[in-house]
Amino acid sequence: MRDEVTKMSTVIETQNLKKKYRMGNLDVSALSGVNLRVEAGEFMSIMGPSGSGKTTLLNLIGALDRPTEGKVLIKGTDISKLNDDELAELRNREIGFVFQFFNLVARMSGLKNVEFPMAFAGVSQEARKRRATELLERVGLGDRLDHKPTELSGGEQQRVAIARALVNNPSVVLCDEPTGNIDSKTGKEIMEILRKLNREQQQTFVIVTHDPFVAESVDRIAHMQDGLIVREEILR
Ligand SMILES: Nc1ncnc2c1ncn2[C@@H]1O[C@H](COP(=O)(O)OP(=O)(O)OP(=O)(O)O)[C@@H](O)[C@H]1O
Ligand SMILES: [Mg+2]
Repeated sequence: MRDEVTKMSTVIETQNLKKKYRMGNLDVSALSGVNLRVEAGEFMSIMGPSGSGKTTLLNLIGALDRPTEGKVLIKGTDISKLNDDELAELRNREIGFVFQFFNLVARMSGLKNVEFPMAFAGVSQEARKRRATELLERVGLGDRLDHKPTELSGGEQQRVAIARALVNNPSVVLCDEPTGNIDSKTGKEIMEILRKLNREQQQTFVIVTHDPFVAESVDRIAHMQDGLIVREEILR
């Protein structure tokens, strides 16, 4: 029983996760056996030097790429057992992504950018607009709905990206250097928004970062080096 309860609250588990990239006739080992567990409601960070495998790990956890060896379980489902369609469906339902360079669609307004992922989840036009507006209000952009990305500051664009990541109510939001491309004051605001979403909605976050400020504001840090988690630090 106890075991079952534990399992139910685990959002992500990786088992001996390995990833090799083939470069010509050379194998580059990006991950060499990562075991990571993320529980529902966690606000945690992955830190490590450039090239240590952080993005590779995030992409595997987010089902954007497949491992060379080992497993990724998302809410207990071994995603290696899924075909490409099932994988895309699971990704759309369970995972939100926030990237360093925002990755918004340039010709669409903030509102449309946030509505977009719901089109694949079979939500009516009216409900999409309502939900997107509500999320943009939650990240403090209620008065910027019709602005296109070029008409928004970096921090505002990142807030649109955060709203978009939340739209299908994902089990976890994966952020790769969410403050990497904005100034430190705006980065602080972004972290406050993420923390608030974590506290108030129990939204789970995994945040890859170089930024010591970001790392200070999380509950737990997994430190990576040479494709491995070498140390875990519990902060609160
Ligand atoms: N598509 C690829 N093909 C070949 N090698 C790759 C590929 N992607 C990453 N690598 C290599 O895998 C290793 C891990 O890369 P990764 O992008 O995960 O690092 P990172 O920790 O995210 O670094 P950074 O902090 O600079 O973003 C690096 O040595 C990198 O050169
Ligand atoms: Mg990276």
